[in-house]
Amino acid sequence: MAILVTGATGMFGSAVVSALAQVGVEVLAMTRSESSAEKLTHGNVTGVVGNLDDPESLPALMQRADRMFLVSPMHPSLGQREVTAINAATSAGIKQIVKLYGAVRHEGDQLDTQHQMSIERLNTCEVPWTLVSPQTVMETNLLGQIDGIKSERSMYGAAGNGRIGMVALDDCIEVASTVLQSDPKQWESANLEITGPSALTYNEIATEMSRACNETITYVDMSEEEFSSMLLEYGFPEEDLEMQVLCHFRQMRNGKASLVTDTFEKVTGKPATSIYDWMQKNLDLFDI
Ligand SMILES: NC(=O)c1ccc[n+]([C@@H]2O[C@H](COP(=O)([O-])OP(=O)(O)OC[C@H]3O[C@@H](n4cnc5c(N)ncnc54)[C@H](OP(=O)(O)O)[C@@H]3O)[C@@H](O)[C@H]2O)c1
Repeated sequence: MAILVTGATGMFGSAVVSALAQVGVEVLAMTRSESSAEKLTHGNVTGVVGNLDDPESLPALMQRADRMFLVSPMHPSLGQREVTAINAATSAGIKQIVKLYGAVRHEGDQLDTQHQMSIERLNTCEVPWTLVSPQTVMETNLLGQIDGIKSERSMYGAAGNGRIGMVALDDCIEVASTVLQSDPKQWESANLEITGPSALTYNEIATEMSRACNETITYVDMSEEEFSSMLLEYGFPEEDLEMQVLCHFRQMRNGKASLVTDTFEKVTGKPATSIYDWMQKNLDLFDI
């Protein structure tokens, strides 16, 4: 069985490639660049070149795959890119599509509109599909704060007192990898929403991180305007700000990221990773 993983150099894709490779599954790891494809190739992983903006680049790859893990970056073309991939997979007779979605209730914003376009296409295709839907991820939120934590033990954001069921990347990858190795019918048309074990405010997250490292980490809450000015000053690309950062903090502040589920425990039989456990595991990354 060969599994095509799109976005294979990105955060989710690269981790799914590693998880599948570790258990001996044959993986086709897709990237747009020849040199990345070469770097990805080792053991049972073959780096392959494809571009979701170029439908012609996909049929030959899909012919070699039995299943697809579909992930694409948060971008105004996410919907069209994923529809292109689903069309190519369907034409090639792929047996399962596992799409990365999300568990934050974005409800009609630009990111959700793009994801809905992709989900609507899945709803009309005959290939069994499953959505793997992480709550907002610890690696994105907390590793994204690494410089401030290292230098002044501070994190910055605009999440107010919104509760967040933040989830560890490893937990999401374990669920995705399990689904990709299971009978496609087992979770057919399911939306597997994966979260941490509890919903905490950013202040409470800072407290849990502090407890895990015996240092005081402080969360500094800002208005959305102050926060975006700070990010722009640090060189964050303006065109990516809304879809990659601001819409997430807005939903957190509005309580739309507070969902907590037992999906991880149900699928794997293990408890979901807490902020405290995640921090203890990652102390080295923060030089603590
Ligand atoms: N971060 C979170 O907390 C979170 C939570 C829930 C859901 N999500 C979802 O996660 C997804 C993003 O995943 P990610 O963070 O792993 O993505 P990512 O790291 O931003 O990007 C994935 C890869 O996509 C490839 N790519 C870019 N444009 C492409 C194109 N036109 N065709 C083919 N590949 C292209 C790039 O690889 P190459 O340059 O090598 O081609 C890139 O490394 C989104 O759907 C988002 O909604 C994120």
